[in-house]
Amino acid sequence: MSSSFVVAMDSSLTPPEFSGLASATTLGTNSIYLAWDSAVDDETPSEAITYNVYLATQEGEQNYDLPYESIVGSVEMTLAGLDSRTNYFIVVRAQDEDGSEESNTIGQQALTLTSYSVNVQPTLNNRCFSCHSSFGNNYGVDVSNYNNLMNSNIVVPFDASSSELSTKGNHHSSGWYNSTEQSTIDTWINEGALEN
Ligand code: HEC
Repeated sequence: MSSSFVVAMDSSLTPPEFSGLASATTLGTNSIYLAWDSAVDDETPSEAITYNVYLATQEGEQNYDLPYESIVGSVEMTLAGLDSRTNYFIVVRAQDEDGSEESNTIGQQALTLTSYSVNVQPTLNNRCFSCHSSFGNNYGVDVSNYNNLMNSNIVVPFDASSSELSTKGNHHSSGWYNSTEQSTIDTWINEGALEN
């Protein structure tokens, strides 16, 4: 009686080789652009490799069971639908046609832009609107919406320290920004005071 064994590598279990996410660039309040170099697999052609994108708002907290988005055969993508003024930690992993995914933890970080409507206007409503709206004597300052604010000439785009919206925010005891609000206002101005 004789027996023989053949031990072979099952190449379908070998995941692609991938250098991970190369860059993450903020595009706007809700979007980030990602780019990477193509992964290489022993069986799956590059146009059939899937890239899974994992997001976290704390470093190292990605849930690798749940990709935010996936794309096949690309070396770039734009993430949309993100939250404004949020720091994202992003990892991309490559997966071959057999479902074998490599496990890099190379992270890139990107902070979405601060949004006027989401992050700034609510603070102005709380802190300033009672004395600086479209009604009554508003002392030449109207924070009720973006156009009225910009027409009040208290915002110098890209220059918070020259903007009265920032520097005069504390002129009245009931109108004080807390430190989070102050940095939100300043960031929004320094990013260009966009109607975003
Ligand atoms: C309780 C009322 C009140 C609140 C709240 C208030 N202000 Fe005023 N604000 C005034 C009055 C009164 C004046 C005019 C007299 C003065 O300059 O102090 C004024 C004037 C200003 C001016 C014009 C200053 C100048 O020299 O022309 C700016 C800018 C301003 N406020 C910004 C703000 C901002 C930003 C907020 C919110 C963080 C705010 N204010 C909250 C009452 C208020």
